[in-house]
Amino acid sequence: MWTARVRNVRNHIVVAALLLTLVIAYLAGSSPAPAPAPEPRPVLTGVAALPEGPEKELILEHCDVCHGLDWVLRSGGTEEGWTDRLRRMIRSGATITPEQIPALAAYLAKALPPRPVQEEDAF
Ligand code: HEC
Repeated sequence: MWTARVRNVRNHIVVAALLLTLVIAYLAGSSPAPAPAPEPRPVLTGVAALPEGPEKELILEHCDVCHGLDWVLRSGGTEEGWTDRLRRMIRSGATITPEQIPALAAYLAKALPPRPVQEEDAF
């Protein structure tokens, strides 16, 4: 007699669990569509991050001969910092001319300014 009762209770629990599952499934299904992921900000990376201009052409032409452009793009610096660096690159054999340094340094300082996390790169 009491076993039937126990079974009965168990059946209730099973039914309740089933109902709960259905309710949850229903809620999950009918909940408003999740907000669409925010449009990824068009973070320009790599060469695309460099503003267009004659200086960019120079950099594309002269600055990936010995190392990848990522070496340039990873760096940051003030105009003085870039001037020093460009001089150093010429000493290493880069084919830009010393006359091109001021414009290039100004351009690079603007496009790739000093980075707080890489203070040592900023000169
Ligand atoms: C003839 C080879 C050569 C060319 C061409 C060259 N580099 Fe370099 N560059 C190097 C060497 C070698 C290093 C690593 C040693 C060093 O830092 O001096 C380097 C390192 C760098 C770094 C790393 C950070 C630093 O200050 O050391 C940057 C930034 C850089 N070059 C920028 C440039 C730019 C901008 C140009 C184009 C004008 C250029 N390089 C062209 C040889 C070159």
